[in-house]
Amino acid sequence: MANIVVLGAQWGDEGKGKVIDIFAKGFTYVVRYQGGNNAGHTVVIGDEKFILHLIPSGILHEKKICVIGNGVVVDPKALIEEIDKLASGGISVKGRLFVSSSAHVIFPYHRVIDELREKSRKKSKIGTTKKGIGPCYADKVSRCGIRMMDLLNDDILKEKLEKNIEEKNKILKALYDFEGFSFDGVYRDYIGFREKVKDFICDTTSLLNDAVEKRKPILFEGAQGTMLDLDYGTYPFVTSSNSTSGGASIGTGVGPTHISKVVGVVKAYTTRVGEGPFPTEFDEDIMEKIRTKGSEFGATTGRPRRCGWFDACLVKYSCMVNGISEIVVTKLDVLDELETIKICTGYKYKGKIYDRFTGDIEILNNCELIYEEVKGWQKDTTGITLLKKLPGNAQNYLKRIQKLLKTKIVLISVGSEREQTITVE
Ligand code: GDP
Ligand code: IMO
Ligand code: MG
Repeated sequence: MANIVVLGAQWGDEGKGKVIDIFAKGFTYVVRYQGGNNAGHTVVIGDEKFILHLIPSGILHEKKICVIGNGVVVDPKALIEEIDKLASGGISVKGRLFVSSSAHVIFPYHRVIDELREKSRKKSKIGTTKKGIGPCYADKVSRCGIRMMDLLNDDILKEKLEKNIEEKNKILKALYDFEGFSFDGVYRDYIGFREKVKDFICDTTSLLNDAVEKRKPILFEGAQGTMLDLDYGTYPFVTSSNSTSGGASIGTGVGPTHISKVVGVVKAYTTRVGEGPFPTEFDEDIMEKIRTKGSEFGATTGRPRRCGWFDACLVKYSCMVNGISEIVVTKLDVLDELETIKICTGYKYKGKIYDRFTGDIEILNNCELIYEEVKGWQKDTTGITLLKKLPGNAQNYLKRIQKLLKTKIVLISVGSEREQTITVE
């Protein structure tokens, strides 16, 4: 079995959690390679709903080994809360959760800087999750970050934390008139966290490359989505990591030649949480209808998600930058009641037609959209498990998407439960 990447091809929340839970069966390892607890991956099993933020969605399968790679930023407090929550649901991570010793650690000053910077941005705010993700990655790039391995070495931890707190306090006071943090308080909290997480910390790059050598299959679980990628998304309205497939190698140390396939997950429409351009965003009336039907509220922050038509232009670009060869379409059922459905196939800006997405915010905010309209099916699809049983117009919609993307649809989801899934033969 080959190693594959499963990632979001829109603005996140495509249903990756459900898809990874289904795919996990065929893999030994499930690995997160970027992002942090800004992610919220939902898996529904019977009456139970699990929302994973840091721990890979494969954890719900008893025997899967889950890895948090070096590219992830880890808030130990959030990690401990997640482990405890799983334990209260009867799921033990002991012996099958590994956290990279090179992963960077989120500290309270990261969260506060995230929040205060957002507040000060007013009109130009990004709408972050305020989990400290951006400031933590900024420290990593500035080479002053603190890694999981530093947590294990008291002298190094003290030295680095002291320096960081001194610097951050000056910034917080000068820019935001915020009193700052006491070294003793933060240090005490983090040595407490260390006791609870230390057994999970290891060299995950070696662990994963040993798995490659032994031909134990690895599933790389993307967080966020392609349009939130730091390089390929709608910058600056993005997250601070590479959520695209290239991030899987960088964020784990498994070389690209060991990854054989990239699967893109898309919703049958589009959503985005937070600020930034969104060309196919609905008008208010249909927005409310789809948001309610699709329960489009953030799994991490509870914020209402902005909703819009399927943007083939955008997903085509995602297929290109990720090397996606297979697509999973989720939440088809949310469109069940619509009379007509639109698909965006291009943007027109200053007389020029763009049939490929562009990261140029000026174009995205001011373009005219080129739409195709297809007939809705107005039938309940939530109980359907065979492609041929889907209403004809639903099949036509999927065929059209497949043709526009020039990429095969391999799985269709018509509800949040495991069973509400159609495998395309
Ligand atoms: P992720 O971040 O990509 O894992 O997605 P989220 O968990 O943030 O959001 C997806 C939401 O849609 C979750 O509440 C899922 O339970 C739900 N969901 C997933 N697939 C389907 C589907 O096919 N139909 C419906 N109605 N809901 C779905
Ligand atoms: P999953 O993995 C949807 C968005 C935030 C904000 C931007 C930057 O569940 O799909 P950040 O806190 O990362 O600095 O915020 O990115 N964002 C997400 N949107 N799904 C996610 O994760 C997201 N993670 C971050 O809303 O617009
Ligand atoms: Mg989510």
